[in-house]
Amino acid sequence: MDTAGCVIMSGRVSHCIRCLITAGPTREHLDPVRFLSNGSSGKMGYALAADAVARGWQVDLVSGPVALPPPPGATVHAVVSADEMLRTCSPLFDMCDLFVAVAAVADYRARTIAAGKLKKSGGPMQLELVPTVDILKTLAARKRPEQVVVGFAAETRDLEDYARRKLTEKKLDWIVANDVSRPGVGMNADDNAVVLLGRKGERKAYGPAPKPAVAAFILDQVLQG
Ligand code: CTP
Repeated sequence: MDTAGCVIMSGRVSHCIRCLITAGPTREHLDPVRFLSNGSSGKMGYALAADAVARGWQVDLVSGPVALPPPPGATVHAVVSADEMLRTCSPLFDMCDLFVAVAAVADYRARTIAAGKLKKSGGPMQLELVPTVDILKTLAARKRPEQVVVGFAAETRDLEDYARRKLTEKKLDWIVANDVSRPGVGMNADDNAVVLLGRKGERKAYGPAPKPAVAAFILDQVLQG
C-alpha cells in the first residue's frame, strides 16, 4: 500500500485501499426482549471509518447496535450478534486490504435463545452461557500475506502484556492497547489514549486525544508499517 490510498502491485496501481472495520457492541439475546451486551458506543470504530473514507478508501463498516449516524461515504452493515458479525465480515474480509477489529464483541451467549419472553419464577435463575466465536482470530487465521490486520485490546490491568499476548495469539500485525479503566478515555468516551504495538516489536503511544485524532494516528502508523 502507498500513502495515497492505493494498492501497488507489480509497480502498478491495482485498486484503491479497501478497508473493513467492525465497531460497537454485539448483543447476544436471551429471549426476544433481553440480551447480554456491553457499553461500547462505537465512537472509535466510526471515527476510523470516517478517517478511512477521507483518505479515499473504500470502507465497509460492520456495526453492532449504536446511536451514531452512519459515516458518510462508508458502506454500513448493521448486525446484532457475534455470529451475524462474523457471517457479514467473512466475505468482506477476503476482499479487503486492511481489517481493523474495533467491535466490543460479547464473549458469551446463551446456549439457547428462548422463543418467547422468559417469565420470572420468583426464585434464582441460572443461565447457561457458551463462548461466542472470536471474529478477529477466525479471520486473521486465513489472512493473505499482503493483508494488514489490526485488533484492539480493551484492558483494565497489565495493559501491554495482555495486548501483546492477543497480538501473538490472534496472529495480528498490530494491536491497539486500550486502557478502559481510565476515567474520560476509552470505551464510551469522546477521547482515547492508546499504545499501538506491532508484531515486529514496535511501540507507539498516543493521546489522550479526541477519537478522530486517534483514528488518524492509527491509520497513519499501520500504513507505514
Ligand atoms: N474480538 C472479536 N471477537 C470476539 C472477541 C474479540 O473479534 N469474540 C476482537 C475485538 O474486536 C478486538 C480483539 O478481538 O479487536 C480483542 O478483544 P478484547 O475484548 O480486548 O479481548 P478478548 O479477545 O475478548 O479477550 P478478554 O475478554 O479475555 O480480554
